Amino acid sequence: MSILLAADFDAAEWAAWLPALQQALPGETLCRGADRPDGDGVDIAIVANPPVGALQGLPQLKLVQSLWAGVDKLLRDPTLPTGVPLARMVDPAMNAAMAETALWAALALQRGFFDYARQQRAGVWRQHGQRRAGETQVAVLGLGQMGQAVAARLAQQGFVVSGWSSRSGPVDAVLGDADIVISLLPLTPTTTGFFDRERFAQMRRGASFVNLARGAQVVEADLLSALDDGQLAHAVLDVFATEPLPAEHPFWQHPKVTVLPHVAAQTDPRSAAQVVAANIRALRSGKPLQHLVDRTRGY
Ligand code: GLV
Repeated sequence: MSILLAADFDAAEWAAWLPALQQALPGETLCRGADRPDGDGVDIAIVANPPVGALQGLPQLKLVQSLWAGVDKLLRDPTLPTGVPLARMVDPAMNAAMAETALWAALALQRGFFDYARQQRAGVWRQHGQRRAGETQVAVLGLGQMGQAVAARLAQQGFVVSGWSSRSGPVDAVLGDADIVISLLPLTPTTTGFFDRERFAQMRRGASFVNLARGAQVVEADLLSALDDGQLAHAVLDVFATEPLPAEHPFWQHPKVTVLPHVAAQTDPRSAAQVVAANIRALRSGKPLQHLVDRTRGY
C-alpha cells in the first residue's frame, strides 16, 4: 500500500517535504498526486491544501493526515471521503513559532513600535509614553494548542492575559477589557465573520487587533471602518479572506495595518514529518490515532 501526497506545494516545498517524510517513514512508499498508483493501492493520504477532489476514488483510504493545523479548507471539499479519520497537524515547533509571532505583535503594540515605524516613513522624531507589559491586557481568543501556547508565552512576558474559547460564554466582557485582541480561533460556521462592526465596537476604544487564525473570521470592510474612525489603533494581519492578498487591497497601504503573508506559524518539515510518522505507525500497528478532527465541530 502507498501513501499519497496531495499538496499545493511549489518546487522548493516539495524539495523540503519529500526527503523529510521519506526519512521519517522508512519502508513506506510515497507517491505524489500526479504519479499516484490506481486508487486501490493507496491507504493513507498526507495533504496540504490539496486540490478539490484529490481524495476521490481511494476505496482503501484509512487515514487523511493534514500538514496544516487548520483543516477548514479540507472540510469544505464536498468530495472529502466521509468516515475516514482525519488528523490535523499538532506540532510543538509550530506552537512555539505561533507564540513568537504573537509575542512580537504584542510587544510592538505595547511599546508603540508600529507607530515609530510609521513616523520613520514620515521622517518624524517624536517620543511617546512607555507602557509596561503589566499594564497591557491581552485577550487570546481560541484556546486550542496554539492559543494556549500564545497565552502562556505572553503571561511569561508579563502581559495581563485573558483567554476565551467558544465554550467560555459571551465574548463581550473579554473584548471590552483588552488592549490587544489576538485571534487563534478555528474557522467554523460560528467564527466566520465573527469580527464584525459589532465586535469591534465591543472592544476598548484604541485597542489593537491581531489575526493569526483565518481571514474569513473578519469582515474586512468593518475592520477598515473601525481603524479609520479610531475605534481600533492598529491591526496585525497574517491571514485574509483572499490569499495572496490582492494587489489592490486597501490593507497593503493602510498606515494602521501590518500585513504578513500567512507566515505566523509555518509547518516545519523537520518536526512535522515526525508527527506524521507517529500517526502512521499508530495506524499500522492498530494503536489509537492522534489529533483527530471532529468533523461536526469543524476542528
Ligand atoms: C496554517 O495556517 C495552518 O493551518 O497550518
